[in-house]
Amino acid sequence: MCMYSAVSEGANLGAPADWHRHHYFTRALGGVGAVIVEATGVTPEGRISSHCLSLHDDALIPAFASLADVIHQGGAAAFIQLGHAGRKGSRPQGWLDHGPLPIGEGGWETLAPSPIPFAEGEPTPHELSEEEIWQTVEAFAQAARRAVEAGFDGVQLHGAHGYLIHQFLSPASNQREDAWGGSLEGRTRFVREVTRRVRQAIGDKALLIRLSATDWTVENPADGRPGWTLEETVALTSLLAEDGMDMFCMSSGGSYPDAKIPAGPGYQVFGAQAVRASLREQGVEAPVSVCGLIQAPEQGEQILATGQADVVEVARGLLTDPMLPQLWRSRLRCEPELPGQYVRGLKRL
Ligand SMILES: Cc1cc2nc3c(=O)[nH]c(=O)nc-3n(C[C@H](O)[C@H](O)[C@H](O)COP(=O)(O)O)c2cc1C
Repeated sequence: MCMYSAVSEGANLGAPADWHRHHYFTRALGGVGAVIVEATGVTPEGRISSHCLSLHDDALIPAFASLADVIHQGGAAAFIQLGHAGRKGSRPQGWLDHGPLPIGEGGWETLAPSPIPFAEGEPTPHELSEEEIWQTVEAFAQAARRAVEAGFDGVQLHGAHGYLIHQFLSPASNQREDAWGGSLEGRTRFVREVTRRVRQAIGDKALLIRLSATDWTVENPADGRPGWTLEETVALTSLLAEDGMDMFCMSSGGSYPDAKIPAGPGYQVFGAQAVRASLREQGVEAPVSVCGLIQAPEQGEQILATGQADVVEVARGLLTDPMLPQLWRSRLRCEPELPGQYVRGLKRL
């Protein structure tokens, strides 16, 4: 989850701060199997906010290595989410208002497949040229190489929540008439090029992608606006498996500020279930994960035991309680895995 606490100017722009090291270390210690570090820009313009992480330069590798290191010290695998915010970039810190920052006041000109603002009243993004698209593909590959050099066990591409990869996928934001838009083949070209190039750059390290299963418009007859659909997600995941993707992490939404999302417990499980069933039918064993209001250990266990997903993710629950996984282990009658330092004080959770 974005912490909006990275270095925001100067030569170290985009570097993690002490805040990140403390925050992610405590979650690792709390017993999660893996930490996926927040959305990290592959270029400075690819950051969501002026205070987001960015891994656009080799000089940043040591700072990110210190982050991967503390996550490993806490006992978890370390992954990092690499993304480009596209038209949803140039924002202030997330706890301020969500309007874009003006250019010259910490903001920058945003980029997108088509010159369509995310929300009414926001500046129109610059339409990426063919050359700029290839530069962005390469920026993903270089950032992924740096992440691996910094010691991360793998990278997660941010293909969800209305950011650049999703902007290419969705007809809500991609109205290009060249080979990068139009048909499903055109709209999925960017993510497939990124996947293939990143795979080359990271060798056999783990490659994950986070996807929005739907924009929640086409499947909602009352909405009527164009959007990315579950059917397209299912088709895309088989293509990406061929391109070398190891794991699919299912979320939803992000293309429209006002889409009606039925957010209740486990509201995104349907996406993981559909993707997993389709992959398994084709003999693809890639794990599928899901997040979204998974708030109780029994709920998580049911998702796993019934084969709806292979991995459960928690975001907001870990903000209020970094030790949540240990508590969940206890409730599911598993032994907690406490660090030696805590054992004398906590015989039982
Ligand atoms: C403050 C905040 C920051 C977030 N940052 C990210 C992010 O960097 N990358 C991402 O894929 N999702 C991000 N999300 C979405 C969460 O990862 C997650 O999908 C969402 O909160 C639903 O899961 P939950 O109910 O377990 O919180 C963020 C959500 C919040 C509230």
